[in-house]
Amino acid sequence: MAGGVPGPGSGKEYQSNLTPYVIVTCAIASMGGLIFGYDIGISGGVMSMESFLKKFFPSVYRKQKADVSTTQFYCLFDSVTLQLFTSSLYLAAFFSSFAASTVSTKLGRKFSMLLGGVLFCAGALLNGFSQAVWMLIVGRLFLGFGIGFANHSVPLYLSEIAPYKYRGAFNIGFQLSITIGILVANVLNYCFAKMKGGWGWRLSLGGAVVPALIIALGSLLLPETPNSLIERGKKNDARVTLQRIRGVLNVDQEFHMLVSASEASRRVEHPWQNLLHRDYKPHLAMAIAIPFFQQLAGINAIMFYAPILFKTIGFEADASLISAVVTGGVNVLATAVSIYGVDKWGRRFLFLEGGIQMLICLIAVAICIGVKFGADGNPEELPKWYAIVVVAFICVYVAGFAWSWGPLGWLVPSEIFPLEIRSAAQSVNVSVNMIPLL
Ligand code: BGC
Repeated sequence: MAGGVPGPGSGKEYQSNLTPYVIVTCAIASMGGLIFGYDIGISGGVMSMESFLKKFFPSVYRKQKADVSTTQFYCLFDSVTLQLFTSSLYLAAFFSSFAASTVSTKLGRKFSMLLGGVLFCAGALLNGFSQAVWMLIVGRLFLGFGIGFANHSVPLYLSEIAPYKYRGAFNIGFQLSITIGILVANVLNYCFAKMKGGWGWRLSLGGAVVPALIIALGSLLLPETPNSLIERGKKNDARVTLQRIRGVLNVDQEFHMLVSASEASRRVEHPWQNLLHRDYKPHLAMAIAIPFFQQLAGINAIMFYAPILFKTIGFEADASLISAVVTGGVNVLATAVSIYGVDKWGRRFLFLEGGIQMLICLIAVAICIGVKFGADGNPEELPKWYAIVVVAFICVYVAGFAWSWGPLGWLVPSEIFPLEIRSAAQSVNVSVNMIPLL
C-alpha cells in the first residue's frame, strides 16, 4: 500500500521552494470553492423573496401571507416542490461526486474542475432565466453536478500541488473561498431583494455564472498535478511540472515516490472494491466520519436559519443583512486564522479545540434560548443585552467551526488517501458531506 500525500511529520519532506508560480496556481484553484459557497449563501435568501415564491411556489406564498408569525415560519416552507428545489442540487452533487472519481482519474483533476465550472454555469443560466419550476429544478441539478465535480477535484488538486510544508494552508484556500462565496451571496441577496420589479431573484440565481466562469476559465490556466500526469502515463510532463511547482531542478526523490505510488495504483483494478479491503478500512472510516461529524456539528442550521434566529431574538430591521455580515464575516476571518495555524498547530489539535468550542457554545445558545422562549417556543421580549450574548455565542461557535472542522473536513481526507484509492475515497467524502443537506 503506497502512502497518502507526504507532508509535515510524515518523514517525507521533499525539496521545494515557495514560488510565486505555486502560490498563484493554488490561489486560482482555491476559487473552486466559490461555487459551493455561493450556492449555500444564495438559496435561503432567494426562497424568502416574495416575487420568487409567488411565481414558482404560489401555495407557499399564500401560506406566508396568511400567517407571518415568526415561530411558525419554518412550517410555511412545507412544500414538496420547494423541497425538491432545494434537495435536487445536493442529490445531484451526491451522485456526480462518484462520476467525478472516474473522470479525475482518467482525464485529470484539471478537466474535472473545468467540467464542474461548465456544468455550474449551465445551471446558473437555466435558473436565472427560469420561466417554470421544471427549469429551476433542472438548473439546480446542473449546479449540483458542478459542485460534485468541483468539490471532488479541487481539494485533491490543492493537496497534490501545494508544497508539503504549507499544504494545510494552501488547501484551506478552498474553504476560504467557500466562506467568501457564502458572504458575498448573502450580501447580494440582501441588495437584490430590495430591487423594484421583483426580478432580484433572477440576478441572485443568475449571478452564480460569475463564480462558475472563474473556476472554468481559471482551470484552463492551471497545470495538471504531477500525480495525475503520472497516473495517466505522462511521466515527462510530470517531471517538468514538478520542477516548476517546486521551484527546484532536482525533484528525483519526489518523482520516484510518485511513480511508485502510481504503479501501486495501476495494480489496483477495482478502486471501489479496494476501498473495502482490510488495509484501507481506516481510510474509509475517515472518509465517512470526517464529513459526517463536520455536518453533524450543525453549521448549516446556523448558515440557513441565522436570519430567522436573529429576527426572533430581536434584530427586527435588516436581520438578514446583520446576520449575514456578522456570521459570514466571522466565518471568513476565522478560516484565515486556520490558514495561519494549521501547519503549525497540527490537524489533531484544531479538531479537538474546535469541537470543544462548538459544543460549549451550542449548549450555551440552547440554554439562553430555552430559558427565554420556554417549551412552547413563544418568545418573551428579550432585552438587547441578552440578544447580544446569544449572538456572541453564535459567533464564537462559527469561529470554532471555521478554524477547525470546516477546513479540516476538506483538507484531511484529501491528504490521507493513498493514490490507489484517492479518487474513490474522495467521492465518499464529498457524498457524505452532501447527505445532511438533502
Ligand atoms: C461545509 C458546508 C458549510 C460551510 C460553511 C463547509 O466546509 O461543507 O456544509 O456550509 O463549510 O462555511
